Amino acid sequence: MALRKGDIIKVSFGALSYKGYGLGTYDGREVAVPGALPGERAKIEVLRRPRHRIVGRLVEVLESPYSRVEPRCTHFGTCGGCLWQDLPYEVQLGLKEGLVREYLEDHLDGPLLPILPSPQLWGYRNKMEFSFDRGPEGVVLGLHPRGRFDVTFDLSECPISPPPFPKVVSFVRDLARRTSLPPYDLRTHEGLLRFLILRRSPKTREALIGITSSGRHDKLTLVARELGEAFPEVRGVVGIFNPSPGQFAYGGKREVLWGEERFREEVEVGGKRFTFYLSLVSFFQTNSGGAERLYEVVREFAGLSGRERVLDLFCGVGTIASVLAPESKEIVGVEVVEEAVEDGLRNLRENYLGNVRLISGTAEDALRSLDGPFHLAVVDPPRAGMHPKARRELLELSPDRIIYVSCNPKSLKEDLEVLLKGYRAVRARPLDLFPHTPHVETVVELVHR
Ligand SMILES: C[S@@+](CC[C@H](N)C(=O)[O-])C[C@H]1O[C@@H](n2cnc3c(N)ncnc32)[C@H](O)[C@@H]1O
Repeated sequence: MALRKGDIIKVSFGALSYKGYGLGTYDGREVAVPGALPGERAKIEVLRRPRHRIVGRLVEVLESPYSRVEPRCTHFGTCGGCLWQDLPYEVQLGLKEGLVREYLEDHLDGPLLPILPSPQLWGYRNKMEFSFDRGPEGVVLGLHPRGRFDVTFDLSECPISPPPFPKVVSFVRDLARRTSLPPYDLRTHEGLLRFLILRRSPKTREALIGITSSGRHDKLTLVARELGEAFPEVRGVVGIFNPSPGQFAYGGKREVLWGEERFREEVEVGGKRFTFYLSLVSFFQTNSGGAERLYEVVREFAGLSGRERVLDLFCGVGTIASVLAPESKEIVGVEVVEEAVEDGLRNLRENYLGNVRLISGTAEDALRSLDGPFHLAVVDPPRAGMHPKARRELLELSPDRIIYVSCNPKSLKEDLEVLLKGYRAVRARPLDLFPHTPHVETVVELVHR
């Protein structure tokens, strides 16, 4: 009988997708279910009338090799965030290491080193984006239920965020209700408030707030001032005006509504402390303690002597370049976001690093105009991985070694398949920067054949 939406089926799961979905088969078709794990048998509700792949909701685990724990968050199960909050941390680490092993298995010509845990298991996030919506009691401010980007639930707690974040969310929600600022409606494209972006350094305790709205409104300045005055950690409140129907938190004109446009983050790597000023749109790893651990691994794999020319592709505000600069002769960084390059230049001065040059542009374009040779290229692309042209140009540039930092084992594997034409992957180390989620970071060292 043909399966329909809402049907309940029993499925055995044998694998894990890179998104952390349990993968099984039913009637010859693949079944993908968030929360299900390899080795488990479970009752599944079919969510959509299936064509090729069955996407389901976990109803009940019937048999499992894993123990489950009580999740900390009341939103667990609804929230699209922490898929694995009901798994013991050791189990999460084992699954992540297994995922990396599976993706790298045929490509790694050396050891897969044990996964490094996150230094902090709770309250580790230094950045969160919350959405505004409309509900029966007025403005709703929170996160999306799993797989529903058109709906938002009111957030009351978020144990992976630092304690000030839920407090700011509730303050802004009350303020929006009090000042009658309307949330943006995705269906009618009317209304104002779209996203609340919170960033905070656990080291300096400085914070920056972003409010994305469909346009400018005088009341936004009042909201920004109230926020700045209520939370002493806040350095500034930045408005982003996005009038387009596209639901982008960072797209649009920006204006400082109150205070400063940057906040200060700090990391300590190799016994040295580095300062990074960050504007709202500049990338920084979302787990600050995890970032320190990640950069230690990059530094260890780099093993620099002070004589090397190093390339830092996808350099953000110059974090990896800065950390490696004291042990290199010269570093060139490439980054597409102009503000990140501006922040980076300031950060280099702040950290007294005179041997780093930053180029604003895409990796795929910049690589062509770079003069080699480079002893080492550190490559840390976004989730989608490298542009095919960037992979080709990097092979052409032919640095002696490459350190690839990946936040997605799937795109890592795809990029390696090309880079391995000229290189051998000699060691890899997974790290956990996102406890309670299936995300995993991996550092791979490649040496020229
Ligand atoms: C994963 S982040 C890494 C940043 C930095 N290495 C760090 O650890 O803070 C990826 C960076 O690549 C930048 N980026 C995205 N696409 C790019 C491209 N085509 N060329 C250059 N940079 C790009 C993003 O803006 C982001 O700063």
